Amino acid sequence: MPAIQPLADLLISQIAAGEVVERPASVVKELLENSLDAGARTITVQLAEGGVRQIRIADDGSGIPREELPLALARHATSKIASLEDLENVASLGFRGEALASIASVARVSITSRLRGAPHAWRIDAASGAIAPAALGGGTVIEVDDLYFNTPARRKFLKREHTEFAHCEEACRRIALAHPAVAFQVQHNGRSVLHLAAGEAARRVSDLFDEEFAAQARPIEAVAGSLRLSGYAALPAYSRARGDAQYFFVNGRFVRDKVLAHAVREAYADILHGQRHPAYVLFLELDPHGVDVNVHPAKTEVRFREGQAVHQFVFHALQRALAAPLSHADAAPGTQTPSPAVTAAQPFQQTLAVEQPLAAYFDFARQGAPPAMPEAQAGEAPPLGFALAQLHGVYILAQNAAGLVLVDMHAAHERILYEKLKTALDARPAVQPLLVPVVISASGEEIAAAEAHAGTLDRLGFELAAAGPHELVVRAVPQALTLARIPDLVRALLADLEKFGASRAAAEQRNELLATMACHGAVRAHRTLSLPEMNALLRQMEATERADQCNHGRPTWTPLSMDELDRLFLRGR
Ligand SMILES: Nc1ncnc2c1ncn2[C@@H]1O[C@H](COP(=O)(O)OP(=O)(O)OP(=O)(O)O)[C@@H](O)[C@H]1O
Ligand SMILES: [Mg+2]
Repeated sequence: MPAIQPLADLLISQIAAGEVVERPASVVKELLENSLDAGARTITVQLAEGGVRQIRIADDGSGIPREELPLALARHATSKIASLEDLENVASLGFRGEALASIASVARVSITSRLRGAPHAWRIDAASGAIAPAALGGGTVIEVDDLYFNTPARRKFLKREHTEFAHCEEACRRIALAHPAVAFQVQHNGRSVLHLAAGEAARRVSDLFDEEFAAQARPIEAVAGSLRLSGYAALPAYSRARGDAQYFFVNGRFVRDKVLAHAVREAYADILHGQRHPAYVLFLELDPHGVDVNVHPAKTEVRFREGQAVHQFVFHALQRALAAPLSHADAAPGTQTPSPAVTAAQPFQQTLAVEQPLAAYFDFARQGAPPAMPEAQAGEAPPLGFALAQLHGVYILAQNAAGLVLVDMHAAHERILYEKLKTALDARPAVQPLLVPVVISASGEEIAAAEAHAGTLDRLGFELAAAGPHELVVRAVPQALTLARIPDLVRALLADLEKFGASRAAAEQRNELLATMACHGAVRAHRTLSLPEMNALLRQMEATERADQCNHGRPTWTPLSMDELDRLFLRGR
């Protein structure tokens, strides 16, 4: 083996660059973060050939004094921290004093900067270290040319121009989302690709996402102790096939974190189909002491001091916001500043007399008897209004204060039942003994499943026993399910139980069983409902958490305002 000897400085930086500068987008990210740390209000990004030929970033931040220009490019030199205490408390995006040195070791770099009040700017060329006077109105311009010109092995890993550009653009989007008060312009090959004016967070989100996201986004705003969560989370109607619309920021820094990702998944677990990915832009803020940002070379991972508490907080805040009933209208970013959906109680709904119509609805469900017409209290119209008619046995049409409401009858009822069954399970579900027990022909496997899972079935509210080698007898079912066709319901449940075996987590099993039950228990399409029955269903939707989506994540209702109707008929133009 050759003798041990210290590495040359350039080589040390090039090794570090291997971690810090993975591709042009990493350069864009580092330079943007520096501009933000310098207090920039306006940032312009110019890219050529996917950022490989050139990345030029101009800001109007504080600037760098002439004598510090060489230090800005030196390794382990930073203006952002000076002690371990500072590191543990770091609020700036940079802190290592490493980014510019790494970039300068694998590209041709120059910095031009002018301090506020200085008579002119200075420019430093990284390769030679030469400093000369230069012209610049203020702030800092950093030019990075010919990335990896001196490390051909790395250059080979670069993808095609449009791919590298797409990564650069994504880096800009992430940073822009977290800094709505800063104006951004991004150009590629001389063409403008992003033009974002400074403004409110809601405006920035609506500038960077499509209208559909805006329509489905729920505002999030929750505070607990030193933790604050804000932003937007889309209802499942805007779920995606890929996890490409997921933005989580911790203290203004885009991160991918397992604790946070898990909390989000859990919050969506009940309303989102397993294969779909939720869309969200969330900002978690906490005391810098509570989070270690120094765990990953690109700083995209963090470690929470109290991961469990953070997990619980994010999970509950999100789950509550997603479950908050019936407020499509006030959700869209851009149309309103974020409203405190999480903390907002809905006093308007709580004053409604939902109890009596609900009882009526279940009377109807049990005996088919028509319930009394529900009455709203104190002259306030209920959010979903009153039923006008049933359309083709599938949809309920209702009139509310804003216009028309369309409800998918089966989906809505299914959701209500699911939530109801879930709540009931925590206590003991109300059981309805059958006057005439129902006998079902069953296979050997089905009978075996019924016996193996007798405890589970009992807990769900079923009384079920083998009545011979090929028959099961059902003596009682949960009260909420008396509308169901009992043989179909029982067979579907047994099929679920057989399928699970012992492999699945109990909670997951339980929810799937409840979903099966709700689906079979819900009023079928093409069943004619009377107006009082429809009204009872509307009142029940208002009283149910997460009633806006069915168990499969489809919406259960949709509003059509008078404005929208007027537009259809070109009224008032
Ligand atoms: N756009 C800018 N405006 C003003 N000062 C800047 C700018 N870019 C860099 N600097 C100065 O140069 C120093 C070095 O920047 P560099 O990005 O290498 O390190 P850092 O930001 O301190 O830490 P990190 O390596 O974590 O990014 C910074 O600490 C800052 O003082
Ligand atoms: Mg930096």
